[in-house]
Amino acid sequence: MTQQDLQPVRRVGLLTGGGDCPGLNAVIWSVVRSATQAGIEVFGIEDGFEGLIAGGTTRPLTIADIRGIHREGGTVLGTTNRGNPFRYPVTINGEVVEQDCSDDVVRAVQRLGLDGLIAIGGDGSLAIAHELSRKGINIIGVPKTIDNDLGATDSTFGFYSAVTTAMEALDKLKTTGESHDRVMILEVMGRGAGWIALHSGLAGGAHIILVPELPYSLDAVLDRIRARWDEERRNYTLIVVAEGAFPAGGSESHIAKAGAGTVARVGGAGLLLEHNLLDAFAAADWSGRDIPEVRTTVLGHLQRGGSPGAYDRIVSIRFGCKAVELIKQGHWNRMVCLRGTQIESVDLADGIAQPHNVDPDGQLVNQARAVGVCLGN
Ligand code: F6P
Repeated sequence: MTQQDLQPVRRVGLLTGGGDCPGLNAVIWSVVRSATQAGIEVFGIEDGFEGLIAGGTTRPLTIADIRGIHREGGTVLGTTNRGNPFRYPVTINGEVVEQDCSDDVVRAVQRLGLDGLIAIGGDGSLAIAHELSRKGINIIGVPKTIDNDLGATDSTFGFYSAVTTAMEALDKLKTTGESHDRVMILEVMGRGAGWIALHSGLAGGAHIILVPELPYSLDAVLDRIRARWDEERRNYTLIVVAEGAFPAGGSESHIAKAGAGTVARVGGAGLLLEHNLLDAFAAADWSGRDIPEVRTTVLGHLQRGGSPGAYDRIVSIRFGCKAVELIKQGHWNRMVCLRGTQIESVDLADGIAQPHNVDPDGQLVNQARAVGVCLGN
């Protein structure tokens, strides 16, 4: 495409979709600053795609509106994980049913005079963005999620901030667990991908790390706890378990079922492990020593909140700049990504095609094993 062929872009919409994560505001800050400098107006769309469905809200975003927000957690635009316009929950005759409202989105984009949308989201929101691109809306995707589960980018922003929160929790659980000689379980987020558990567990000195990609054996966990007694005469053991982890032959634990426009809520893996351990302890011969006490902490949304760390701020700012650069070049329907130290882009369809999971035979798992971590098998 030559410079003459390029349609000048005057106005873009910007939205954040799915669960929030540290760094969303830094991307918004970066997009607004770099777009404004390029003479492109930015329209903020509130609460994800819902802002483009009847009753939704949008507002122009100027540099004055975003001053200093790159250091803040959350998203000034709001977000939701119930706003899929292709399966939008509406109440008809008192019953909540899913309806396709995607044409509302197309009309809103036209009405607002948007040349395209920058969608900051995880696999779900980017899949919606991709479907909208097939309806003729120009899209740029920016990959976010603390779970780090998108294959087309070396990492998503938000991940390392969440890992730091989980690592700091493990550092604290270590001192109380060690003082009381207890088995301390920390349940962290990561429904299908065990990256937060693996990284935080390694950094936070966990003796046992359980991830969804490696269904665990309770016997292997018990053996490791016993080995700590044999080696150190201590009942203290630190375990990190991803919310999506489960014992071999079992399945993911849920605390709420999927409903209209919502997915099932994953959770309970930590307590399940606690109960199974207590039953196994009660049935075992502990050779005269005290049966270990077990305590479980569910870290939950603490991992999603708070300020982004330095690494996530930098990646977020660079993702935002790249998104605007692609728009200026007329390269729509792409997803920005990190490749090594460079910010690049891939076709949006390729961006969402591959999930990113812990490789059970990969380097990180083997290095964790090499320093004595039990992976539950
Ligand atoms: O996808 C990110 C994530 O943090 C998952 O790890 C977790 O299962 C989910 O969001 C929780 O979402 P919600 O805020 O809807 O409970």
